[in-house]
Amino acid sequence: MPRFSDRVEQVSISGIREVFEAAGEDAINLGLGQPDFPTPDHARQAAVDAIEAGKTDGYTSNKGTRQLREAIADKHARDDDRSVDPENVIATAGGSEALHIALEAHVSLGEEVIYPDPGFVSYEALTHLAGGTPRPVALRDDLTMDPADVEAAITDDTAAFVVNSPANPTGAVQSPEDMREFARIADEHDVLCISDEVYEQIVFDGQHRSPAEFGENVAVVNACSKAYSMTGWRLGWVTASHERIERMLRVHQYVQACASAPAQYAAEAALDGPQGVVDEMVEAFAQRRDVLLDGLADIGLETPTPQGAFYAMPKVPEGWVDEVIDRGVVVVPGEAFGEHGAGHARISYAVNVETLKEALEIMGEATDAVR
Ligand SMILES: Cc1ncc(COP(=O)(O)O)c(C=O)c1O
Repeated sequence: MPRFSDRVEQVSISGIREVFEAAGEDAINLGLGQPDFPTPDHARQAAVDAIEAGKTDGYTSNKGTRQLREAIADKHARDDDRSVDPENVIATAGGSEALHIALEAHVSLGEEVIYPDPGFVSYEALTHLAGGTPRPVALRDDLTMDPADVEAAITDDTAAFVVNSPANPTGAVQSPEDMREFARIADEHDVLCISDEVYEQIVFDGQHRSPAEFGENVAVVNACSKAYSMTGWRLGWVTASHERIERMLRVHQYVQACASAPAQYAAEAALDGPQGVVDEMVEAFAQRRDVLLDGLADIGLETPTPQGAFYAMPKVPEGWVDEVIDRGVVVVPGEAFGEHGAGHARISYAVNVETLKEALEIMGEATDAVR
């Protein structure tokens, strides 16, 4: 009998994949976590040019090329009014690796990690893989995370808490006041705040602010994946204080060596190039969100208004998700994102309006069938 680590035995393959496998080939897929737009041409071309010039055949610096880290620093100055030293940036294999090295570097065996429930599936899994203990916290009715709940969950064993705004799976955006509170809590309790900002660019209402604007004890995770529709390129990053970066680099160096070189050149071009492509994508998402919200309201499903990302999370009746999937529309059951996701479904609107309307019709029929 093969033997496996206790850590890996605590983790299972994401419930999202199971849903995809259950759906037929012609299903309308509202389960996807990636934008349905192409990567900008100038980003693709920068990778092609770098490959042809022979710049991508070898390892880059462990942290990533200096030019990419400067482009990341410029991005934070431009968007978040935040000064980031390029030395305090590690380019990673997507936001996923950034989350992984942040937790590996900060969580000791048995220490606790607080994160939103429902929340992105990686937080629980990566906590287990780091040998930590997951401490999910329930959300407010509007699906944001209450800083007071995070503060109440902190114990002597807490190593870190995760903030994710705009959020997957809810589309919720935390207020600037909340972000200020998260920064205060991290400072006062001397615990790390990991701020997962991969959906930063996709905000319709309200405003994206980073807890890093308000305090020092914050590691910011970001990526080109969602902002530039570059999920396949695997390029993200983490910024934090010098001593935190030095510890995360120890993990990154041994698990990854460096982010893929072609992807680094593409990311640099995406970050430095024209940002109109992002605006166009956000505009399209905003229009689809409105179509979806109107449709769900007509069906009679209560849905907190998502202010960002490309997900909505309506409350759904018992049996709804199975009924919808049986009728050929893939959505993800809320419990795939944590115990408190039960009774909800995550609907991704990374599809065109026509497809969305078709799916709404089917969801309406499914709702009638289970009510
Ligand atoms: C909230 C959140 N964080 C991080 C990630 C990871 O993104 P990446 O594709 O850059 O690894 C995702 C991907 O779906 C996500 O939804």
